[in-house]
Amino acid sequence: MALGAILLSALAVGLTILLYSNSCEAAPEALTQKSAIVATRLPTNLEPLHYRLQLMPFLNQQNFTTNGAVSVTLNVIEDTDKIAINMYDITVHNDSVKVKHLNQSENIEVTDQKYDNISQIYTIYLKDSLKKGELYELEIKFISKLNDKMQGFYRSHYIDPKTNTTKWMASTQFSPTDARRAFPCFDEPSFKAKFTISIARPNNMTTISNMPKRATDPM
Ligand SMILES: *[C@@H]1O[C@H](CO)[C@@H](O)[C@H](O)[C@H]1NC(C)=O
Ligand SMILES: *[C@@H]1O[C@H](CO)[C@@H](O)[C@H](O)[C@H]1NC(C)=O
Ligand SMILES: *[C@@H]1O[C@H](CO)[C@@H](O)[C@H](O)[C@H]1NC(C)=O
Ligand SMILES: *[C@@H]1O[C@H](CO)[C@@H](O)[C@H](O)[C@H]1NC(C)=O
Ligand SMILES: *[C@@H]1O[C@H](CO)[C@@H](O)[C@H](O)[C@H]1NC(C)=O
Ligand SMILES: *[C@@H]1O[C@H](CO)[C@@H](O)[C@H](O)[C@H]1NC(C)=O
Repeated sequence: MALGAILLSALAVGLTILLYSNSCEAAPEALTQKSAIVATRLPTNLEPLHYRLQLMPFLNQQNFTTNGAVSVTLNVIEDTDKIAINMYDITVHNDSVKVKHLNQSENIEVTDQKYDNISQIYTIYLKDSLKKGELYELEIKFISKLNDKMQGFYRSHYIDPKTNTTKWMASTQFSPTDARRAFPCFDEPSFKAKFTISIARPNNMTTISNMPKRATDPM
């Protein structure tokens, strides 16, 4: 099947998170009842500048997953040997996780990777510290789910009246806090960044976006 890729450039406006303050002394009833859900903020020692995101969703008679790759340019605010990033219901290909200085070809060794399902934070531990004022590139390949919960990058369907058959589509709902279901990201309102997005699709489908198309590459 031929696939077309669409390149889009977009400003992040929707990558936001709703947080409960830990310092809130008299937490409302609703929050205390959900005490298993502890919202944790990301550290502010790293700042994402630009995401390059590639998504290949599998709809139709396929498995409703998305093969994804994200590459984020990071500015270092304070030296750190850890990268903490939000994600939820995503499988990371551990071996694909790469960190390197923007101007160097050599990767910085990843010593460990941990996912915490409660805080929804994936932490990458590095052998060497990232240095303040320098730029680095973080790369992650992953599989996310085209869920039916209207969260993240999700699936829905309609009946085509001409053929009386089911047609599938995938849409995004990223506002708090569901971008992390579509791809690993710094999913808090203060982390605004630029995006270059490419989406693969079968050639009988279309892709629409709120930002202009840069190119289509038939494969
Ligand atoms: C595109 O083709 C696939 C595979 O043949 C089919 O299942 C799907 O319904 C088609 N989609 C549309 C929108 O026609
Ligand atoms: C889903 O289906 C596609 C197309 O057949 C395949 O390439 C991909 O590996 C599958 N993904 C999973 C997680 O099984
Ligand atoms: C998170 O953990 C809970 C409880 O173990 C489980 O029900 C849920 O499926 C997990 N979610 C993910 C995305 O792994
Ligand atoms: C991959 O990373 C996860 C943390 O996300 C960890 O639980 C798992 O053990 C790792 N798997 C391998 C094969 O290293
Ligand atoms: C990378 O190299 C270019 C030119 O070689 C230079 O202008 C830029 O400042 C360097 N960037 C970093 C983060 O070192
Ligand atoms: C559409 O398809 C469904 C089941 O596939 C069938 O029950 C229904 O009668 C069909 N409707 C029309 C108008 O052909």
